[in-house]
Amino acid sequence: MKTVVFLASPNKNGNTITILNSLLSGLQGEVNIINTFKTNVKGCIDCKYCHYHNECFIKDDMVHIYNLLEKSDNVIIASPIYFSSFPASMKAIIDRLQLYWSNKFIKRKEKNICKKNAVVILTCGSKCNKAFSLVEETLKQVFSLINVNETYKILIDNTDNTKINKELNIQAYNIGKNISEV
Ligand SMILES: Cc1cc2nc3c(=O)[nH]c(=O)nc-3n(C[C@H](O)[C@H](O)[C@H](O)COP(=O)(O)O)c2cc1C
Repeated sequence: MKTVVFLASPNKNGNTITILNSLLSGLQGEVNIINTFKTNVKGCIDCKYCHYHNECFIKDDMVHIYNLLEKSDNVIIASPIYFSSFPASMKAIIDRLQLYWSNKFIKRKEKNICKKNAVVILTCGSKCNKAFSLVEETLKQVFSLINVNETYKILIDNTDNTKINKELNIQAYNIGKNISEV
């Protein structure tokens, strides 16, 4: 069982990592954590190289990330909401999935990507569930490209005013256990 984790918060003791750590304590198998704030991934430049080749023109940390995405049984995205969207470092990784979009819709020759579960952990400061909706729409597109079968979500709002409660940590731990067993 192999899991790739995208941690898109820069805060070492932040809300997002708190929930992620609970999930990871229930998770078994090989876990590869990508801290998006520490990766070197440039955004897509729409050069269209991937329309004609089975790889991206830009050779940065994304080479390793493509490989992890293709071979993992689980993908976890743990991210705060920044201006109703993903932090820029996470969005850069998402935009580079254009390679998989062009495999599917231009070359019509999809890569062999492992069927996987997805876990989405999102946190936002305001007391408003709507803050998650744009990001969830983005993730729908992403998950259809990387062969996601089942999705689990932990969406936490109002972090400006409340602390992460124990029940959420238990929920995260149980999801970690669940996706280890499938
Ligand atoms: C640059 C920036 C933009 C933000 N934009 C939003 C936003 O649009 N909506 C919202 O509810 N919270 C917003 N927040 C608050 C964070 O989503 C919130 O504090 C989150 O829980 C931080 O997670 P962390 O502690 O794991 O880093 C923003 C915070 C930052 C730093």
